Amino acid sequence: MWGMHASIIRLIFMGVEFLVLQIMYRLLPLRKFGEESVLGKVVIITGAGTGLGKYVAHEMVKRGAKVVMGTFASTLTKRYSKIDILINNAGISLNSSHLTKTVDGFEEHMGVNHLGHFLLTNLLLPQLRRSESARVVMVSSTMMMYANLNLDDFMGRKGRGRGVLNVMPYSNSKMAMALFSKELANREKERIKCYACCPGIVKGTRIFEKYAGSVVEKFVNLVAISIPMGANTILYCALGHKTASKSGQFFRFEERFSSGEALLKDDYVKAVWNLSASLVECEESSKPDRGNV
Ligand SMILES: NC(=O)c1ccc[n+]([C@@H]2O[C@H](COP(=O)([O-])OP(=O)(O)OC[C@H]3O[C@@H](n4cnc5c(N)ncnc54)[C@H](OP(=O)(O)O)[C@@H]3O)[C@@H](O)[C@H]2O)c1
Repeated sequence: MWGMHASIIRLIFMGVEFLVLQIMYRLLPLRKFGEESVLGKVVIITGAGTGLGKYVAHEMVKRGAKVVMGTFASTLTKRYSKIDILINNAGISLNSSHLTKTVDGFEEHMGVNHLGHFLLTNLLLPQLRRSESARVVMVSSTMMMYANLNLDDFMGRKGRGRGVLNVMPYSNSKMAMALFSKELANREKERIKCYACCPGIVKGTRIFEKYAGSVVEKFVNLVAISIPMGANTILYCALGHKTASKSGQFFRFEERFSSGEALLKDDYVKAVWNLSASLVECEESSKPDRGNV
């Protein structure tokens, strides 16, 4: 009983911590950081047609990168023998009161936010391993701290609670992305650097469109940061000098999100990798392709 109370107190504390950091960050000017050059590097960004992805794509182009807005893995592997940066940004947050599925039959958040990126990343590993300084960034979310991920019911089919504003399936998918990021960093050691990040609560993207005119929109407008500010943490993970030695960590507001990392238990990290690999049938591609290195 005490354990349950302690967990609830910890979650409340983490929520308050997030809001305080968000508001402080909003009040400060955009932080500058030392960057690695991306001149001529190949950068893949998923979901780059709108919002944060679009802004990050522009920033990369400004710095001289060859930016490819996420497309089919088979096209990418044919066209590029080497990929330097992969930003897994595409995402949905449906907040639906009922289970919705992808065409493959996966719960929609898990399919789009996590499994789609899990498969894409694994298919691109040979190209990433050929880069001298490969980085993979998972655009996760602080909402992952409210996840209730159950390995026996990964798709949430058994009708468990969907959480406040039906956010649980989104939280679960973002937790799966963060676990995936940690295990990818473990597996690739320093060859491919891998980060999870949360951009903060960001206005001006399409993710909160469904709340137009509601109290949620009013709250978002009160605390949200701009797209450039939210994108800064994604760029920090993809380019920062300081993050180069911090593979495997989770960042938000350009700082380590330690309380979030504490939720990424080692046994879950491995179990979620194995389960994801079997769901998308890509066990073999996750093994290091030493012949191509
Ligand atoms: N904004 C925030 O406050 C916030 C906070 C935490 C985390 N995030 C994360 O940040 C990322 C970017 O979100 P955003 O705020 O920029 O929202 P957004 O404007 O809605 O951007 C999401 C992007 O993902 C793409 N996408 C969605 N489903 C897809 C699919 N099945 N296949 C390919 N692309 C798909 C969308 O493309 P289409 O428009 O073509 O569908 C869109 O370009 C998301 O992963 C989100 O979860 C955002």
